[in-house]
Amino acid sequence: MILRIALPLALMSSLVNAQDVERRIDALLSRMTLEEKLGQMSQSTSMRTPISEPIRDEIRKGRWGSFLNAGSPADRAEAQRIALKESRLGIPLVFGRDVIHGYHTIFPIPLGQSASWDPELIRDAARIAAREAAGEGIQWTFAPMIDIARDPRWGRVAETLGEDPYLTSALGAAMVRGFQGGSLASPDAVAACAKHYVGYGAAEGGRDYNSTWIPEILLRQVYLPSFRAARDAGVATFMTSFNALNGVPATGNRFTLRQVLRDEWKYDGMVVSDYTAVTEMIPHGYAADNADAAREAALAGVDMEMVSTTYFDHMKALIQSKQVDAKLIDDAVRNILRLKFRLGLFDNRPQPAAETRPVAEALDTARRLAVESVVLLKNEGNLLPISASIGKVAVIGPLADSPTDQMGTWVMDGRAQDVQTPLAALRRMLGPDRLVYARALRNSRDNTHDGFAAAADAARNADLALLFLGEEQILSGEAHSRAFLTLPGAQEALVEEIAKAGKPIVAVILAGRPLTFQGASSRAGAVLYAWHPGTMGGPAIADLLFGRAAPSGKLTITFPRTVGQVPIYYSHLNTGRPPSPGELGIPMGNPVEPKGYTSKYLDVDFTPEYPFGYGLSYTAFEYSNLRLSGATLRSGGTLTVSADVANTGTREADEVAQFYIRDLVASVVQPVRALKGFRRVHLKPGEKQTVQFTLTANDLAFYNEQAKLVTEPGRFQVWVAPDSARGVPGEFTLE
Ligand code: BGC
Repeated sequence: MILRIALPLALMSSLVNAQDVERRIDALLSRMTLEEKLGQMSQSTSMRTPISEPIRDEIRKGRWGSFLNAGSPADRAEAQRIALKESRLGIPLVFGRDVIHGYHTIFPIPLGQSASWDPELIRDAARIAAREAAGEGIQWTFAPMIDIARDPRWGRVAETLGEDPYLTSALGAAMVRGFQGGSLASPDAVAACAKHYVGYGAAEGGRDYNSTWIPEILLRQVYLPSFRAARDAGVATFMTSFNALNGVPATGNRFTLRQVLRDEWKYDGMVVSDYTAVTEMIPHGYAADNADAAREAALAGVDMEMVSTTYFDHMKALIQSKQVDAKLIDDAVRNILRLKFRLGLFDNRPQPAAETRPVAEALDTARRLAVESVVLLKNEGNLLPISASIGKVAVIGPLADSPTDQMGTWVMDGRAQDVQTPLAALRRMLGPDRLVYARALRNSRDNTHDGFAAAADAARNADLALLFLGEEQILSGEAHSRAFLTLPGAQEALVEEIAKAGKPIVAVILAGRPLTFQGASSRAGAVLYAWHPGTMGGPAIADLLFGRAAPSGKLTITFPRTVGQVPIYYSHLNTGRPPSPGELGIPMGNPVEPKGYTSKYLDVDFTPEYPFGYGLSYTAFEYSNLRLSGATLRSGGTLTVSADVANTGTREADEVAQFYIRDLVASVVQPVRALKGFRRVHLKPGEKQTVQFTLTANDLAFYNEQAKLVTEPGRFQVWVAPDSARGVPGEFTLE
């Protein structure tokens, strides 16, 4: 009997296309010289405006496969024309760029976006960024950054989606879908890049580029899942990271690049090194010289070398001396050409030459995402929202009117003139007579008190002081780690001075990382954490301050009480001596013995200032009535967990309900809580909704001592919760 399996038409045509692409790659490969192949494997940053004669000539000769962060749209179009029309084989270039949180329209920094817990909106933002970038001849973005970050000292925490692997996986995959759209060949899609592979966020001491030591179990449980999720979402490229992982640089790491990525995950996309990460294997102490570095990177499976030129300079000799198999080079070139075919670069993909501007829809999405990313940390006596009939407001601080700072780190194409600051938005809302502005400090690091008197005066003559504090743009991002998490400069002193006026204070904090700001928050009745909110941050913040929108953001990274608690994250292990809630040591300097030999500090509460998942609203939500579909979950079966969320306040608002589990006894101890789901619900006052989560045994799997994924029978706790420290609990058994 012949069994016929009918494949869906779309799948069949994509298989045919894929076969066709592989045939076209083979045909090209058979005609390419080794030099042309090595050219494809090289990415340069040296294209300037205007394109120099030597670069034009190199493009003609096929010296480069790609340029990054280079040229104007017109330059890129011209370079592409040369590659297609004047090079021997007509192989197109691919233009890569850091389009991290927007292109011209700047969305909140990724850490801020993640606080929205809104994958659809995050996808839409990435879609817009792709459209704008592709509209200027970019076909490849180096995003999303899906490193797990549990150390706010690390400047690049701003670029991450927070500390949790489940959430980062969901939001990172949403970004991939947004950037790449339905088809990479569509003229408004760009190839995404899962970076930095892998472990970069665990840098010792929070110092950028520092080494990471991550046992395989932890690597698989915490650091790899977001990359696996990106791969499953079809991410076109991966970027290696700068760090040495367990002593082996990630750019020469055969375990992560060959075994995990290629052999286990069957990834057929393209791998690019980070910026000069290949030659950095020399100072790491891993490669002896440039040739050795080229060999290590090629053996590990790095297809394209960013900026350094060891492949081009040394690969021929490495092949001749049989240190590198020529087949490896063909494999790498295949991956690169496959990307170019998928992008439609061989098939008349348009190469637009003109500059574009943000459109209304983009600005609207930026505003909505900024609104959803802001987290209300404190709101004593319902100080917020501010009544529309308020008399006079004093707007004070270095970040009320600082367009560049408001955009945050990694902004190459955002234009300050497109940015709407809080001051501008509030002026529009209140009119000139009801607002008085005092910058008070030139920037967030300013230590002088010269502007204090005018600011205090403004506060005295107003009904409310609105303080815009935080960190300027250059205090976070790559190579911008901090050892202190306090508000820099004289900002705490400024708050102290303003408090003397005796007026209610609202603090809005714009920053690229969690900060510690106890002084300011003890003096302010309300605190909004706005991150670096991007182009439309001003109107978004004004909407929230005046109650045109209700805050719904929830923290995706734990806020410590002090830098001394770092690393601190919700998903920690319990230890054999967990402290009890509220258990403190003794005040320092007290000569008696501390009570209780538990895992705590003498001088500060062991709990965070604000836990993962935390965020208030202008209304109140109550969680109740947790139900399980059964007392046991059997392998192959499912268990549903539901709970009611009620709006018990007086305003309609969104709430992000979170679902956590804890495996109580396991052969490798498991975290006190792990996020397994979340839902955003919109509730009117008095309204109640049931949120439901479904578990299978797979959701309860973990890596055992042999680093094998297993499930073990036993008892589990669950919570449906407003944050990682609270929630309605339940329990079940896995059989
Ligand atoms: C960063 C990457 C970035 C690359 C290209 C590197 O320094 O680590 O995240 O994509 O530069 O600009």
